[in-house]
Amino acid sequence: MVEMKRIATGVKGLDTLLDGGIPEGNIVLVSGSTGAGKTFLGLQYLYHGALNGEPGLYITLDERSENLMKVINSMNLDTSVFDERFQIVDGAALRKVIGTSEERARGGILDLEHLTKLIGTYIEGFGIKRVVLDSLTAVAFRYEDTAEFRFDLFRFCDYLKEQEVTTLLTVEVEEGSSAVDRFGVESFISDGVIVLKFEERDYDLNPTILVRKMRYTDHPTVRFNYTISEKGLQVHEKYI
Ligand SMILES: Nc1ncnc2c1ncn2[C@@H]1O[C@H](COP(=O)(O)OP(=O)(O)OP(=O)(O)O)[C@@H](O)[C@H]1O
Ligand SMILES: [Mg+2]
Repeated sequence: MVEMKRIATGVKGLDTLLDGGIPEGNIVLVSGSTGAGKTFLGLQYLYHGALNGEPGLYITLDERSENLMKVINSMNLDTSVFDERFQIVDGAALRKVIGTSEERARGGILDLEHLTKLIGTYIEGFGIKRVVLDSLTAVAFRYEDTAEFRFDLFRFCDYLKEQEVTTLLTVEVEEGSSAVDRFGVESFISDGVIVLKFEERDYDLNPTILVRKMRYTDHPTVRFNYTISEKGLQVHEKYI
C-alpha cells in the first residue's frame, strides 16, 4: 500500500490515535457542544502547521478576530512563527462589505460560494495548506433550504480537495445530544469526524474525545479523556 502523507494536528495524544495525523487533503468535522474546545483545537492545528512551514487560514464566523487573538495570547504560543503563515478572516467584519447593499442591510451573506472564492484567494496569495472554518454551523444557518446547503457543501468540499488543503470544519451540537452533526449531511460528506463531548457524571462533566471516523486510518473507536490548558488540548492515554 502507498504510504499516505499525514498532517499532524499538533495535539498531544490525538496524533497518536490518528497514526500520525489527518491524511493530507482530508476534510474533518470537529463536533462538540459549546465550550468543548473546538476553537482551541483549530488554533493548535494551525499553529502546528506554522511551526512546520505550512501556511494556514482561520475563518472565524462565530467569534470576532479580536477575541480569537485573546485566545491565542492566552495560549502562550510563540506568535513570531505565525508571520504570514497564519491568516485570519473575520466573517463578522466581512459580512459588512460582501454582497449588495440590500443584502448587507439584512445582515450580509457569507455562504459557501463566497467562502470558496475567499479561500481560493488565500491559497493563491499565501500557499495555504491548512484551513479551519469555525463554524460550519454558522454557515448552515444562512441557508433556508437543506437541499441547497447539501449541494453547496458537496461543491465546497470538492473544491478543497482539488486544492489539496487539509481542512477542519467545526460543528456545534447541542449539549447531551448523541448527534455528531447538526444537519444530518456534514458527517457523511466529510472524511473524518472527531467528537468532543462533555459526559454527565454525578457532580461534574467528563470531557471525552472520540475519533468517530477517519478515512484511510486504523484508529481506535474508544473515548479518551482530554484536558484544556494554556498549552491547548491534551488527549490522555485512557478513559477515566
Ligand atoms: N487558559 C485556559 N486554561 C484552561 N482551560 C481553558 C483556558 N482557556 C479556556 N479554557 C477552557 O476552554 C473552553 C473554551 O474552549 P473553546 O473556545 O475552544 O470551545 P468551543 O468549543 O470553541 O466553544 P464555543 O461554543 O464557544 O465556540 C472554556 O470554556 C474553558 O473551559
Ligand atoms: Mg469556538
